[in-house]
Amino acid sequence: MRIGVLTGGGDCPGLNAVIRAVIRKGDGEYGHQIVGFGHGWLGVIEGETRELDLASSRGILRRGGTILGTSRTNPFRRDDGVAAVLRTLETERIDALVAIGGEDTLGVAHRLAGEGVRCIGVPKTIDNDLSATDVTFGFNTAVQTASDALDRLHTTAESHDRVLVVEVMGRHAGWIALHSGLAGGADAVLIPEQPFDVDTVCERLRHRHSQGSHSSIVVAAEGAVPRAGTMATQETGVDEFGHVRLGGIANLLGPEIEARTGFETRVVVLGHLLRGGTPTAFDRILATRFGLEAIDAAHEGDGDVMVALHGTDVVRVPLADAVGTLKTVPPERLAEAEVFFG
Ligand code: F6P
Repeated sequence: MRIGVLTGGGDCPGLNAVIRAVIRKGDGEYGHQIVGFGHGWLGVIEGETRELDLASSRGILRRGGTILGTSRTNPFRRDDGVAAVLRTLETERIDALVAIGGEDTLGVAHRLAGEGVRCIGVPKTIDNDLSATDVTFGFNTAVQTASDALDRLHTTAESHDRVLVVEVMGRHAGWIALHSGLAGGADAVLIPEQPFDVDTVCERLRHRHSQGSHSSIVVAAEGAVPRAGTMATQETGVDEFGHVRLGGIANLLGPEIEARTGFETRVVVLGHLLRGGTPTAFDRILATRFGLEAIDAAHEGDGDVMVALHGTDVVRVPLADAVGTLKTVPPERLAEAEVFFG
C-alpha cells in the first residue's frame, strides 16, 4: 500500500512523534510505502511529496514542529482545489491518507472522505478543543510551558509589586488558560467561553491587594472577550478557514487595569512560545500511540475515522464526531476553579 501523511494547521509539539510512529510501523512492520506531503493540504494540491523511510524517522521524536511543514490551506476554498487533491492522490497512487491536524484539517479530511478518499485523522492542537477525544497531543506541552513561564513571572511581579497580564493561545477555547492558570497559581483567568467584566476583574485585584498581596497574575486566553460595550477590541483579518486573527486582548486589558486600579501593570504575550519546541513525555507517548493506531487503521482498510484517547485507551471514532462542534470549557470547570481566582 502507499499511505500519505500530512500535517495541517498550526504546528504543535508531537507532530514528528506521530510521523515517526506511522513510518516505523507502516514501513518497518507492514512494509507499506509512506509518502509525506509538504505544507498540509497545499502539498496535496501542488503535489509536493517525499518518500518517508526508516531513515527519515530517525532522531525526530523529540523534535518540535513538523518535518513536513504545515499551512492553513483549505482546498474547498480554492478554485480547482478539490480536483487538484484528487488528481495528486491518483497520480501518487495513494491508498489512504493520514491527516494530522485540528478541526480545520480534519474537517477537510472528512469532506474528502465524502469524495471517496480514505482519510484517517489524528487529533492535534495545543488548544485541546477537538471533540470526540479526551485530549489532543500538544496540549500538555503548551500547559507545561505556560506554567513554567508563570512560575518565573510570579517572582518578577512580586519584586516590583506589579500586576502581570499573561496572554496564552486559545482562540475559541480556554483550556490552556484554565489549566496553566491553575497549575501556575494565577489570580484571575479569562477565557473565551465566558465574556469578562473589566470592573469585576479590577475589583478582585483591589480586594486581593487590600488583603496583603502586592502583586497579581491575570491569565487571559487570546480569545477572551470583554462583555459587550465594556472595552474596545481589535481584529486583524481572517485566514482561509474564516478564523479571525486576534489583535491581542492582553495589550488592551493591561493599560485598562492600570488606569482603573492604579496598580502598575505589565503585559506578557506567550503566543507561539507555547507551540514551539520539544514535546513533553506525555505528548510523545500520546502522539506515538495515535500514530500507531492511525497506521493500523490505514492497514486494515478503515477510513473516515479519527484516532482518539478515551480514558487510557486509544480508539477510533467517526471523523464526523470530531469536527462537528468544538470542545470548549464547560462553565462548571471554570466555576470549580473560582476559589483561586480573586
Ligand atoms: O493552533 C491553534 C492556535 O494555536 C490558536 O490558539 C491560535 O489562535 C492560532 O493557532 C495562531 O496561529 P497562527 O499564528 O499560525 O495563525
